[in-house]
Amino acid sequence: MSYADRARELFSTTQILPSILSADFARLGEQVATVMDAGARVIHIDVMDGAFVPPITIGPLVVEAIADQVHEAGGVLDVHLMIENPDRQIDAFAKAGADAITFHIEAAPHAHRVIGQIREAGLLAGIVLNPGTAVDAIAAVAPQVDLALCMSVNPGWGGQKFIPESVEKLKRIRELLPEGAALEVDGGVDERTAPLVAGAGASLLVAGSAIFGKPDPAAAFKAIAAAAGA
Ligand code: DX5
Ligand code: ZN
Repeated sequence: MSYADRARELFSTTQILPSILSADFARLGEQVATVMDAGARVIHIDVMDGAFVPPITIGPLVVEAIADQVHEAGGVLDVHLMIENPDRQIDAFAKAGADAITFHIEAAPHAHRVIGQIREAGLLAGIVLNPGTAVDAIAAVAPQVDLALCMSVNPGWGGQKFIPESVEKLKRIRELLPEGAALEVDGGVDERTAPLVAGAGASLLVAGSAIFGKPDPAAAFKAIAAAAGA
């Protein structure tokens, strides 16, 4: 099975996606192994450029560093681009081992073209919207995507509080998506909020601090998965 087929299969199920943003980068491989041993199959990678959002985080080098490990353990990599000009970085992340790439509608006036570019690279393509962006902003591209990602915090940092209005927003995004497209949610997902977002139609739940910020990340992963019915 190709990694693209594997990604398609995994993205059609309910998954908890550990975000390595909150991991200990001095022992990144070990942290990835811990959550994958606990059952994680999609690893979420937060790319920030210091322009679209204030922090600078991860580039293709880090994706490349963990890609073989994740693929060999039966998983895939979900790359969340919080950057301006996402079209300029697709090839580099595809080459580094990404299996899905999402980018922000707020950073992409030519979103239709960028989705085509991600698909052409053989990856799953997704559109992201910020808490302050209306659902209608993605209506025109929704029929084209493999997934949509609803931010439930303002992007830039892990460990922020879940924005409750995201629950209603998820339901409205779900209605826009074609059958078979996945709905992802990112920000403030923990044992308490996971059932709320899953109930609103989200199937890919990103969790950073609620996993890697805990003394036992494997137990935390399993508790969130159980709460989400994953
Ligand atoms: C925020 C990132 C998230 C972040 C989530 O900009 O996109 O993926 O890691 O962190 P938590 O789960 O701690 O809110
Ligand atoms: Zn993210």
